[in-house]
Amino acid sequence: MDTLEELNRRGFVEESIDPTLDLFAEIEKLKKEKNAIILAHYYQEPDIQDVADYIGDSLGLSQEAARTEADVIVFAGVHFMAETAKILSPEKKVLLPDLKAGCSLADSCPPHLFKKFKEKYPDHLVITYVNCTAELKAMSDIVCTSTNAVQIVESLPKEQKIIFGPDKNLGAWVAKKTGRDLVLWNGACMVHEIFSREKITKLKERHPHAKFIAHPECEEAVLQMADYIGSTTGLLNYSIKSEAKEFIIATESGIIHQMEKANPTKTFIPAPPNNNCACNDCPYMKRNTLEKLYLCLKNGSPEVTVPEHIIREARKPIERMLEISASLGL
Ligand code: 13P
Ligand code: SF4
Repeated sequence: MDTLEELNRRGFVEESIDPTLDLFAEIEKLKKEKNAIILAHYYQEPDIQDVADYIGDSLGLSQEAARTEADVIVFAGVHFMAETAKILSPEKKVLLPDLKAGCSLADSCPPHLFKKFKEKYPDHLVITYVNCTAELKAMSDIVCTSTNAVQIVESLPKEQKIIFGPDKNLGAWVAKKTGRDLVLWNGACMVHEIFSREKITKLKERHPHAKFIAHPECEEAVLQMADYIGSTTGLLNYSIKSEAKEFIIATESGIIHQMEKANPTKTFIPAPPNNNCACNDCPYMKRNTLEKLYLCLKNGSPEVTVPEHIIREARKPIERMLEISASLGL
């Protein structure tokens, strides 16, 4: 039977918070007390982004996790991101405000099935998108993110055969950009797969001067319409550099918070999905709340752990990605 301590460690003990507490001030105090750093992905709710020490895309967050001198990393993102931080900094305590903050794309590639898939292509090198489990990374030769996927494929000899997983949309985009024939795993993200080409076309007609910008996890039919395709950091930078005043954004809506902060006179419109949902929220990213972040910092739980043998194997392909990225100045 699980002890109370074990349940607490895994974040199963619900705790109420004094409603008069100033959570922003409490979090600042706890960060100092525990020598903790908060790393947040752009898809987190605005309050979380505002208390974070570093906000970034998957590549930036991995780089920051590898270089931080904090004792505790509070990872405001999803499970695979916190696992990556733990693999790069195994001596540190890595906390995730809600352990159920998973990822539909990571779930679309169960390691036992990927192992069989990989066995069918014994002479292929395996590149996996960082949005996958630690177990999958341990089966890979190089990890990549949406910022560096094209450059990582291009860094390999032309004759090198490659398996790319788990995202088929990112894989197809990389194959098109590099002219390489990649063997793709059939996985996808539930948020990026549902943008509606028809509704975007109508929205563009109503906003003829708006730039349409998209994350490469979107389907090819949507990417074909884009003025710019890039990672979350790429999209944010484009919104800053572009002279346009209006943008239609085909990715998770959390990024709009930083776009609006950086460009107070510009307008950002979330791209419409196929369903009737008005927003493009990732249900996993949005499991984290400021309250859960405060509690996890206060209690030192829930903690993300990775078995030692997986850390050993998964570290090599992640470090290879970081080395290639550093050599390219990414
Ligand atoms: P980025 O690395 O571009 O931030 O993407 C992360 C992600 O989860 C996209 O769905
Ligand atoms: Fe995973 Fe998609 Fe959410 Fe990104 S937006 S964390 S790929 S489910």
